[in-house]
Amino acid sequence: VEQTYIMIKPDGVQRGLVGEIISRFERKGFKLTGLKLFQCPKELAEEHYKDLQSKTFFPKLIDYITSGPVVCMGWEGVGVVASARKLIGATNPLNAEPGTIRGDLAVQTGRNVVHGSDSPDNGKREIVWSSAFELLLDMNETYIRIFTESSGDFRV
Ligand code: GTP
Ligand code: MG
Repeated sequence: VEQTYIMIKPDGVQRGLVGEIISRFERKGFKLTGLKLFQCPKELAEEHYKDLQSKTFFPKLIDYITSGPVVCMGWEGVGVVASARKLIGATNPLNAEPGTIRGDLAVQTGRNVVHGSDSPDNGKREIVWSSAFELLLDMNETYIRIFTESSGDFRV
């Protein structure tokens, strides 16, 4: 079954939108397979968004994602990756349709409350990534460095 990685960003957590966002995925009919509240270290935020490294907003994006705890979740179901992206709405909340999470709950691209994987492959990769950092945090910074240097394979 297809899996996706959904992350409630620090603004979503701070604004008390965790329950609201989880409800939308539950009501749609997807299955929650994992969840944790987590303070994302800078190295792992950079790894997560490495495709956007060259963008001028990249440093701001990393500051944003590391500014407070995030809620990391795995969700599963038929077509969950594309469906979750529809439930979330467009990247810029001002372009997101009413009825979507960003369309209903956000106004700024830089404060768009939630992340969803953009492909089934990234869904799998990001779930591994999100469970990896929990293990790694229980260890020490050397492991975090090994993890980021080996670009995603934490079983070193
Ligand atoms: P994610 O689900 O978070 O990956 O969003 P997305 O897939 O809708 O957009 P994308 O992967 O292109 O960008 C990742 C995140 O970077 C966005 O969700 C925004 O938080 C941030 N971002 C993208 N474009 C801009 C921008 O022009 N300015 C700022 N400040 N942030 C941006
Ligand atoms: Mg994206």
